[in-house]
Amino acid sequence: MDCGELARVARAMMVKNKGILAADESTGTITKRFAGIKLESTEEHRRSYREMLFTAPGAAAWISGVILYDETLRQKTSDGIAFPTFLEKNGILPGIKVDTGAKPLAQFPGETVTEGLDGLRERLIEYRKLGARFAKWRAVIDIGTGVPSAFAIMANAHALARYAALCQEQDIVPIVEPEVLMDGAHSLERCEEVTEMVLQKVFGQLFQHRIDFAGMVLKPNMVISGKKASLRATPEQVAQATVRCLKRHVPPAVAGIAFLSGGQSPTEATQHLSLMNSLGPLPWPLTFSYGRALQDTALTAWKGSSTNVGAAQKELLRRAKLNGLATTGAYAPAMETQAA
Ligand code: 13P
Repeated sequence: MDCGELARVARAMMVKNKGILAADESTGTITKRFAGIKLESTEEHRRSYREMLFTAPGAAAWISGVILYDETLRQKTSDGIAFPTFLEKNGILPGIKVDTGAKPLAQFPGETVTEGLDGLRERLIEYRKLGARFAKWRAVIDIGTGVPSAFAIMANAHALARYAALCQEQDIVPIVEPEVLMDGAHSLERCEEVTEMVLQKVFGQLFQHRIDFAGMVLKPNMVISGKKASLRATPEQVAQATVRCLKRHVPPAVAGIAFLSGGQSPTEATQHLSLMNSLGPLPWPLTFSYGRALQDTALTAWKGSSTNVGAAQKELLRRAKLNGLATTGAYAPAMETQAA
């Protein structure tokens, strides 16, 4: 393990004005996204969609890294350049999702544990050779009646820490993603309570597994009311609660925090990030690692047609730029209606 190298890559992922594009949808998830634009999920469609995203001109001004899926890491541009090579040449770090998904946790109805530890060392060795500089593992915690249980939180925290240790052993920066879902009708207070329990356990496990905090990135949910809550918290309340919660549980040595969007609208996700960054100074850089909040408008513009590539890239670059501005608190909602 080269601590200097890990810290250098982690810092590059978190560099000012930039964030991470999460384009690591599994085949199942991208198939669902394509269904929304009535496009069949063939390997070539998945490749051409990712090519549209990765070749957006000037994306490196706002994007420091892209998270890929196993299939995508092995695919090429139309000119025959492997995606990781293409990204790296353009100043964007390639990363890889390495978990194999959240599976039902036996004996704990309604809860999941993320799998993928078996054979992970060997897969990481191969991914490093294919160009991956960082990795991602997502644990999923749902809020509902009687859930989450303390045991499910612990099982997920333990797996996250074992994953992170294996990554650092192979000189790959781990993105540690414990996601508390925003699917329910719960309040912001309940989300904060659960997020606190989760972060406390996750950092306890990371510490025990001897993780170098300077060589990792945390990818958390924001502290936010559930999508179905009758009274949703304001953007200012979300920003304050999230920063408060993170300050209590995330050691300052952590290289940075890159949020998931988790089902927030693209504008909500940008506004929340910008408000948090205006609450500074903060112990760590705060940026984005959005999937849907960066891609949704681009996917809708693309519609699976090569004639729409330019328009779709414009949409992606627009969201990337607004989120880039949000990393310094320089975003204002009025920018949404201004020309790109
Ligand atoms: P969303 O931003 O769409 O939540 O995706 C981020 C991600 O990587 C989820 O694992």
